[in-house]
Amino acid sequence: MFLDPKRHLIINRFGGIERIFSFKMMVDKALHVLVASLFFVIWFGGSLPNAYAQLTPTFYDETCPNVSTIIQGVLAQALQTDPRIGASLTRLHFHDCFVDGCDGSILLDNTDTIESEKEAVPNNNSARGFDVVDDMKAALENACPGIVSCADILAIAAEESVFLAGGPSWKVPLGRRDSLIANRSGANSSIPAPSESLDVLKSKFAAVGLNTSSDLVALSGIGSGNPDPTLNTTYLAALQKICPQGGNGSVVTNLDPATPDTFDRNYFSNLQTNEGLLQSDQELFSTPGADTIDVVNSFSSNQTAFFESFVVSMIRMGNISPLTGTDGEIRLNCRKVNDVSTGSNALLLVPMKGSGCYNGYSLFLTMLMLCVVSRSQLTNDFYSTTCPKLLQIVRKEVQKAIKSETRMAASLIRLHFHDCFVNGCDASILLDGSDGEKFALPNINSARGFEVVEAIKTAVESQCSGVVSCADILAIAARDSVLLSGGKSWKVLLGRRDGLVANQTGANAKLPSPFEDVDTIINKFAAVGLNITDVVALSGAHTIGQAKCATFNNRLFNFSGTGAPDTTMDSSMVSDLQTLCPLTDDGNKTTALDRNSTDLFDNHYFQNLLNNKGLLTSDQELFSSTNLTTKDLVQTYSTNQSLFLDDFANSMIRMGNISPLTGSSGEIRKKCSVVNS
Ligand code: HEM
Repeated sequence: MFLDPKRHLIINRFGGIERIFSFKMMVDKALHVLVASLFFVIWFGGSLPNAYAQLTPTFYDETCPNVSTIIQGVLAQALQTDPRIGASLTRLHFHDCFVDGCDGSILLDNTDTIESEKEAVPNNNSARGFDVVDDMKAALENACPGIVSCADILAIAAEESVFLAGGPSWKVPLGRRDSLIANRSGANSSIPAPSESLDVLKSKFAAVGLNTSSDLVALSGIGSGNPDPTLNTTYLAALQKICPQGGNGSVVTNLDPATPDTFDRNYFSNLQTNEGLLQSDQELFSTPGADTIDVVNSFSSNQTAFFESFVVSMIRMGNISPLTGTDGEIRLNCRKVNDVSTGSNALLLVPMKGSGCYNGYSLFLTMLMLCVVSRSQLTNDFYSTTCPKLLQIVRKEVQKAIKSETRMAASLIRLHFHDCFVNGCDASILLDGSDGEKFALPNINSARGFEVVEAIKTAVESQCSGVVSCADILAIAARDSVLLSGGKSWKVLLGRRDGLVANQTGANAKLPSPFEDVDTIINKFAAVGLNITDVVALSGAHTIGQAKCATFNNRLFNFSGTGAPDTTMDSSMVSDLQTLCPLTDDGNKTTALDRNSTDLFDNHYFQNLLNNKGLLTSDQELFSSTNLTTKDLVQTYSTNQSLFLDDFANSMIRMGNISPLTGSSGEIRKKCSVVNS
């Protein structure tokens, strides 16, 4: 069921069958331990790995449909000069997944802050193929910039390698993201070693969720070392002849078997005749009383079952703790995390749909963000000694305000958003003055809740004077507003300081407009370091609150000069709104952004979009434009409220991290509407 017979048709594209089968033999020797070990996970009914996450083989269908072909192409090239590379790449995937999950952490180079896994004992002078991964990444960046993670490249490369070695093909679940860190000590302790006892090896499998039944077998790396006394002497002599020290790997072409169907069965047969290459291989068969012996015997004569089990096991291994959603990032370069000064991930990598100048634009964004975004040192216990009751004080004030006007929850959330998008989350929006942000187009006669923020500030000052910033109050009040409207809570990161200036021009330019198309909005989010998931998740804030007729009446009568309403607005909603917002009106009447459940923080906003009931152009565009990524997310959130609420919380944290002032920058305002004198 997992095999993909069609794949065998493409063999000849990569240098001919003979070379591939030669390579297969090489890979066979390199992969056998992995093959056997993983197989046994299934055979003995090991428990599921700890995260099945949201990986799917169709993950890149829209965004990078040729991802596998591109990787195949680079692999085929590499095989011309290095027949062993498939084995090496498969081992990279394996060594990646066993350390903090399949997150590309093994690919990271040393830096001041990163102790690479490359130099861990199981990898040092042994893990290889990094340059080929770089080539794959470069080819993918060329074809679909910023889309494919390095972790997924490893997973696909492993599958391609196995297939090209004459093994099975399978649909690789995809959608992993890349880690921001490496874990050398984890690599030292988690990766099975060829010399370890069967029990230790089993426990290492169990530790990553591949086995809870203690019936697993060893997994070993590909190492050199002294010949094992249990090694069949004829085989040893043959190996020594084929692989002289300093020899050239291409000699293995002489081992080309007659058919591609022998290597898996041969591997098991080899164990039966003491021809396992590594100690950990041979132990599967030679450990007295081992529960693995029967399996070896069985699979030495049952290739089909072995292939199927192997595929299932590879998929299970690839599912070890992947980073998904907004976790991690999509690295630009597999060897290093994206520039830390961006303070966010994947933001540079938003594909600019319909733009023929992605690279220039991306560079521009990179430079822009280097200027405007800094990595924060925010923490969630920032005020634990200086204002220990802070969270209670704010919660009480927000509660009071919402009790007196339900809509205030929405208004407070929006204030935090409009603050963060302009000069970072520095409370600049709260400053009075005709040249302030309050008078910028997106805020004038629209942003509200200033008096509530001031009331919170007064309450806080009365208990901890001069300590808590207005920027932090906005962040906490936004979180509480979501919670008190029925959404999920999150730990707010704190430690922001208040800006000394407002930026009205910035507010006019940077805040998204309801009339903008989805690509423009995505770009505005990218400019502050937020990605497409952030766009869609955060737009879900429109599950509560109100909007004025002026922000959507362009859709009601003469949309884009068509002389008719917007066809992506439900017709009965159009007529309701035409009544509410007649052309002659001043545009100041308001209606609910989410007609389905006006004051409840739920996923009905997304359900509305599916039914053409988004209020603003910018809302409906998330579902009705040609952007399939946003459409997909809308669809997902419309059926999965919990995921929406989780993603929303994550995105709020990311948004709250936009260029905060910390340390001695800015000040702690005494009053939120004016800078200290
Ligand atoms: C994606 C781009 C966005 C656009 C174009 C947009 C635009 C708007 C507009 C035009 C309104 C109505 C304002 C009025 O009539 O006075 C509004 C309301 C609101 N927006 Fe957004 N918004 C966007 C994203 C967000 C985000 C990221 C958040 C928060 C995380 C948010 C939270 C809100 C809330 C809660 C309201 C209701 C405010 C109230 O009732 O006082 N919006 N938005």
